[in-house]
Amino acid sequence: MPKVTYELPDGTVHDVDVPCGQSVMDGSVRNNLPGIVAECGGSCSCATCHVFLEAGESFFDEPTDEERELLEFAEGVRPNSRLSCQLIISDGCAAVRVTVPGTNG
Ligand code: FES
Repeated sequence: MPKVTYELPDGTVHDVDVPCGQSVMDGSVRNNLPGIVAECGGSCSCATCHVFLEAGESFFDEPTDEERELLEFAEGVRPNSRLSCQLIISDGCAAVRVTVPGTNG
């Protein structure tokens, strides 16, 4: 099963198995990791699932216009900012790593 590495705001690092078809957000929420709030439950309308995608960007689709617009409202946006609910894990995913910013709520 693909693994996703989450670096949390407190500096701890967690490796989580995330089944194909689930999002990077799902992997965090289902394992009760703090930091990704995911207020809207993954429907791309809250931006509280903001992460920095440090590795594995080639496995994911480019952000949609909707995602880009929402990211404009997130704090501390960087070029590698993504909404983790839009990062869907697929078979080939390997070495995906995200940093969870401390400003998601
Ligand atoms: S969970 Fe709301 S935009 Fe991702």
